[in-house]
Amino acid sequence: MHVLVTGGSGYIGSHTVLELLKDGHQVSVVDNLSNSSEESLRRITKMTGKKIAFHNFDLVEGDQLDKLFSNNSFDVVMHFAGFKAVGESVYKPIKYYQNNLDSTLSLCQVMSKHGVKKLIFSSSAVVYGPPDRVPITEDMLLHPTNPYGHTKAMIEQILSDIVQTNQGWEITALRYFNPIGADESDMIGEDPTGIPNNLVPYISQVAVGKLDKLKVFGNDYDTPDGTGIRDYIHVTDVAKGHVAAMHKLPRPNHMAIYNLGTGKGNSVLEVIEAFKKASGKDIPYVVAARRPGDIAEYFASVSKVKDKLNWQVEKIFFRPVKILGVGSQKILMGIANS
Ligand code: NAD
Ligand code: UD1
Repeated sequence: MHVLVTGGSGYIGSHTVLELLKDGHQVSVVDNLSNSSEESLRRITKMTGKKIAFHNFDLVEGDQLDKLFSNNSFDVVMHFAGFKAVGESVYKPIKYYQNNLDSTLSLCQVMSKHGVKKLIFSSSAVVYGPPDRVPITEDMLLHPTNPYGHTKAMIEQILSDIVQTNQGWEITALRYFNPIGADESDMIGEDPTGIPNNLVPYISQVAVGKLDKLKVFGNDYDTPDGTGIRDYIHVTDVAKGHVAAMHKLPRPNHMAIYNLGTGKGNSVLEVIEAFKKASGKDIPYVVAARRPGDIAEYFASVSKVKDKLNWQVEKIFFRPVKILGVGSQKILMGIANS
């Protein structure tokens, strides 16, 4: 199949491009490089020997997208492009609503014009907001608590309205929990700019001495060790989840929604311990105040995705295989098979 991957040079998109190529598909990428570089795709080509058609433009620019669809025959679109920083979205809501919504609308409009109606969308567990219970099932009510989360919930609504036009759309939204890690080749990975907000990239930078110590945000939650619990899923499993979803799209005029998680929660202290054990590096930390807006515990129910897509995670333990400090700012962390 010829798959168009939007946001394909980014963190999760690039891992998915790799899995798509391994699964024998032809891949084209659109990315405006607002939060990535073409280097990830160059490395994938080096690893696989397969070409990736790369198009550097903003999805909001409908004319360029239209031209791309006129010159290609795509079977499926995987839509990763978007802004994703929760904290920034609170300060710059217009930027988030504009980019995430406009790019999706522009994409759907051009897909509709060219009769391409198979779409897989990157949603997020952030749409659930604070859960009433765990594990979180897909049918739980959505109450996102920040603009980023609202954009994801709104896009899901838009997609659900689109399938109801009965024009043959087949759409799957995947709600990722906490993707971490890197392809085991160590050739691609997560490379956040500035000081990371998320736990695992932060620990990685402490491990290589780029940051002094981790602040554990609160140890007085109602959890076994008092620290926050999350569902950390390996990015390669997320990528393989997309390939599985592509092989089992819902029937025409339907939309499917699945959680992508491990179904298990780990506390901050467990993550630190696992990282220390696997890497042999010390991870100095101090306990600090709770981070505003944080939730004590959430993890996914994965029954639906196991049942319908026959997909489940392959990597479950924290075992960093290599940490590279590549002269500059690059931190690539690989997590090996359990
Ligand atoms: P990323 O920032 O690494 O990748 C997103 C890519 O989209 C970037 O390469 C960026 O340059 C590109 N992009 C952004 N706006 C664009 C536009 N208008 N036109 C063209 N390209 C554009 O992020 P990621 O972690 O790979 O996330 C991918 C998707 O998954 C996002 O939609 C994100 O919201 C969602 N998601 C991510 C996480 C996570 O923890 N990383 C969790 C849940 C959901
Ligand atoms: C955040 C995003 C979510 C996104 C996810 C993965 C929010 C509200 N949500 O979730 O949308 O899908 O990242 O990218 O921001 N922690 C520390 N010290 C740190 C960093 C984190 O103790 O320096 C703790 C947090 O309090 C939390 C856990 O580690 O208990 C995980 O935090 P993080 O990696 O930021 O992920 P989420 O908060 O789950």
